[in-house]
Amino acid sequence: MPAISTKGESAQHPSGDARFELIDKVLKRVRYRGDALIEVLHSAQDIFGFLSKDVLVYVARQLKLPLSRVYGVASFYHLFSFEPLGEHSCTICMGTACYVKGAPDIVKILEDEYDIEMGETTADKQFSLGSARCLGSCGMAPVVVIDGDVVGRETPAATLERIRKVLAAEKE
Ligand code: FES
Repeated sequence: MPAISTKGESAQHPSGDARFELIDKVLKRVRYRGDALIEVLHSAQDIFGFLSKDVLVYVARQLKLPLSRVYGVASFYHLFSFEPLGEHSCTICMGTACYVKGAPDIVKILEDEYDIEMGETTADKQFSLGSARCLGSCGMAPVVVIDGDVVGRETPAATLERIRKVLAAEKE
């Protein structure tokens, strides 16, 4: 992705979306410091649900960072998504400890059950499957995060059951 010039550009909200004003508040709070990039991206993802190109460009301009740097950081951390996520999500830690304790088996059972691959969302937009590097809870490996709740010492069957329940509750 090419670097972009930040010189002489005024703050503009692409497409007039009011959610950019919420990002402005975060930017103000961190005083437009480039080293607050990850915090800003987290907030942007919370606000928008994912990081669109418009959002990445906007953040890069406001923090006066090259777009390539912003994109590089966002793609390094697997908790960031460039696509709209489904209503529910499961992130599976694929760090070393979780990997050797069976994380790939959890991925496989979910991919088979929902007919998607890692990083994808079901066609009905109900469920997204993602991966993360070490989540910092290796003692509980393998670790999964379902709709923001961290669960450790998981088995493929247990994770599948949890997700079935979450999706069934949605339909009630
Ligand atoms: S490797 Fe999964 S929590 Fe550390």
